[in-house]
Amino acid sequence: MTIIAMTPTTTMWGKRDDMIVRAYLPYNAEPPPAVLADGDITPTEAFYARNHGPIPHIAPQRWRLRIDGRVERPLSLTYDQLTKDFDQHSVVATLACAGNRRAEMMRARPMPGQEPWARGAISTANWRGVRLADVLAAAGAQRRDGLHVAFTAADVSQAARPVQPYGGSITLGKATSPEVLLAWQMNSRSLPRAHGGPVRVVVPGYVGARSVKWLSGITVQPTPSDSYFQAHDYRILPPDADPDAAAPGDGIPLSSLALNCDILDPVDDARVPAGPLTIRGYGIAGDGRGVERVDVSLDDGFTWQQADLHPAPSKWSWRPWSLTVNPAPGLLRITARAWDDTGAAQPESAGSLWNPRGYGNNAWARTTVRVL
Ligand code: MTE
Repeated sequence: MTIIAMTPTTTMWGKRDDMIVRAYLPYNAEPPPAVLADGDITPTEAFYARNHGPIPHIAPQRWRLRIDGRVERPLSLTYDQLTKDFDQHSVVATLACAGNRRAEMMRARPMPGQEPWARGAISTANWRGVRLADVLAAAGAQRRDGLHVAFTAADVSQAARPVQPYGGSITLGKATSPEVLLAWQMNSRSLPRAHGGPVRVVVPGYVGARSVKWLSGITVQPTPSDSYFQAHDYRILPPDADPDAAAPGDGIPLSSLALNCDILDPVDDARVPAGPLTIRGYGIAGDGRGVERVDVSLDDGFTWQQADLHPAPSKWSWRPWSLTVNPAPGLLRITARAWDDTGAAQPESAGSLWNPRGYGNNAWARTTVRVL
């Protein structure tokens, strides 16, 4: 494997030149929110990128996938075997980083050392590959309750303690659900390097952290992965915890996405002409649940009106919404909140959700614009 260092430019990894780059090495970037409102599926050039280490270069011919642990037949698959020997499936799925909307939490209380992701660490693609369930079945994976499926990747993170490859795990129950894919295509093209090419895991309905890129190994085991990114990171620590002193297993591990919604257009501080104003955004519910209603308030939550919900492109994706209003000139504060099909709604404030690593902000969405 060769690691290629790149000189920072605004257009890296085939992305739009207006990406908001949070870091060049490792490359971390999110699109301007209004770009996300332009389609159900996010063009790959606008899809957010979240990396914990340098992006590896692995030619498909040299890629191998090892499947071991609690299996009857440990396997080593080539790219050709994975892409030709199993039935192919597609899923439209939204990936959302657990740190999406962290910047709002950081305004409530600082979070030294954390990237201030705004509204764009979420995107939707059409993924194509094979079912993880089929690959596990080919290896004769045990089917006992309580087992976990751990993923190992080829990229090495200097931010991990100790320095180590990226990894993570999901339960065997989720791993054998039909929506979970080992994907080599994104939006009908070969999976780009920046998104885990040649092959990544796609775990719809879960935080993006579990959709492991540059997949190199799968182990069926009795415990969750002991990777830094499962045992230390991507956990909700209590507000009084010191993240640097936290022990492995402290805090709540993140898996299913929390019910969320956001306002993508207009953007904060926009100056909009008087007259009809169309507000656009998305709602998303966790693992297999649906967004049932989105309410919008123009008076800080005193009164609400229902947004028009558009069809979700899939059960595993966000649900776009819009609402056209006629605000008076002056400062306009827009608030939005979603309800899911179990009647659950989002919490009101980001500050009330504050946690030391800044994960899981699913508070009501707020945007302030000036109507001219
Ligand atoms: N897989 C590997 N190997 N290395 C990583 O750094 N980042 C994870 C996940 N899979 C990561 C990874 C995180 S935190 C997220 S949110 C998603 O990939 C982001 O996927 P994307 O960069 O394709 O948008």
